[in-house]
Parts: sequence; C-alpha cells; structure tokens
Amino acid sequence: MRLDKFICESTELTRSMAKKALHKGVVTCDGVVIKDSSFKVKETQTVCLDGDVISIVGPRFLMLNKPLDTICATYDEVHPTVIDLLDIEKPDDLHIAGRLDIDTTGLVLITTDGQWSHKITSPKKDCGKSYLVKLVEELDTGLIETFSQGIQLKSEDGLTKPAVLEIIDAHTARLTITEGKYHQVKRMFAAVGNKVVGLHRESVGEICLDDDLEPGEWRYLTDEEIASV
Ligand code: URA
Repeated sequence: MRLDKFICESTELTRSMAKKALHKGVVTCDGVVIKDSSFKVKETQTVCLDGDVISIVGPRFLMLNKPLDTICATYDEVHPTVIDLLDIEKPDDLHIAGRLDIDTTGLVLITTDGQWSHKITSPKKDCGKSYLVKLVEELDTGLIETFSQGIQLKSEDGLTKPAVLEIIDAHTARLTITEGKYHQVKRMFAAVGNKVVGLHRESVGEICLDDDLEPGEWRYLTDEEIASV
C-alpha cells in the first residue's frame, strides 16, 4: 500500500496532511525517514509517525452489555450513547448491528463490517434475537400459538414472522424474533393487550451475552462468535 494511504487509514490524517507529515520528515519505515508519498509499505514493515508506531486496524467485532438509559446511536446531545461507552480507537468507523430502545438492556453487537451486520439485521437472513420480557398482565399459554402464527402490528403490512415464545412464569417470557421492526417486542405484546415493563436481549443468533460483562462493559468477539453469523 502507498505510504500516504497507509497513514490516512491508520490515523485521523487526511491525504494532504499525510503528505505534509511526509514532507516534514516525521515518517519512518523500519527506522528510515521516507518522504515519498508513493513509497510502497510492505505488511512486515513498521511505520512510525512522530516516533509512534501506526498500524491499520482490521475489521472489528464486539459485544456490549447495554445499560438502561443509553442510546443505540453514534451521537446524542442528551443521553450517553453505546459508542461513548467504548474507550476505543476510531469509534467513528463502528456501527451498531441492531439497535435497542433506551429502556432495553443487554446484548448489543457493534462492528466495522457492514456485510456482517447485514446478516444480523436483514429479516431475510432469519437471524434469531432472544429477549427476556417482563410483562404487566399474566401470560396466557395460548399466546405461544398466536406468536408462532404471526400477528398484525398497527401500521404494518402483513403479519410478523413466526416468533417463539417460552413462558417462564406468569409475568416473564423469552421471545425469539427474526425481524427488527421498530419497538417490535413491545408492539407485539401491546397487540395482544399486554404491556412490556422490562426488556433484556440475551442473544443474537448463536452469540449470547457474556455473563462476565457488567452493564456498560464490552469485549471483542471470539473468532467462533464472528464466524457463527
Ligand atoms: N423490541 C422492542 O420493542 N425494543 C427493543 O429495544 C428491541 C426489540
């Protein structure tokens, strides 16, 4: 890769700023000052800018245990965002693979890889998302069949895709859906006369929220977790 492009991809510098840095003689490649922007950097070489090693960050995949009152967005004027919780280089390159509401907690997947997140969010890919749901009204076992048949949400064309409901106790259930319509879980229960008072995402596909992560904590995904999508 050309040295000026390498500098742009591994720092916040624009192409013209990279060229200026090269011109000033503050860029070295394996200890040798290089001023030529078109110099070809090899993978094995160590590039330094102002004495600091710079390197290109590859695709990144991570999970966060989203706490209450945080927003799944990259920027918000009022509330902290999930991206604010990541003390990480180049946060602007990251995006959220399936957002949660401000009052929903649990598993949020964040990545730089658009194709990977598409496999999670596209309803065509049938990637299940499981939620632990707390409800105001008592749960009726007949709802298992109703949700598996799909239900009509207000202002939507057609039924929801088949969803799997597991009743845990009178006011708690686990619901697995493969879509991500706006407020989908809350609207599904509202459509059958119930009200969600607690919502926590436990898993996305085969990726389960790590029990060791306290609310607000995150970690990188393992290779197996990345490949499972
Ligand atoms: N469904 C909802 O209603 N809210 C969420 O945050 C996620 C799914």
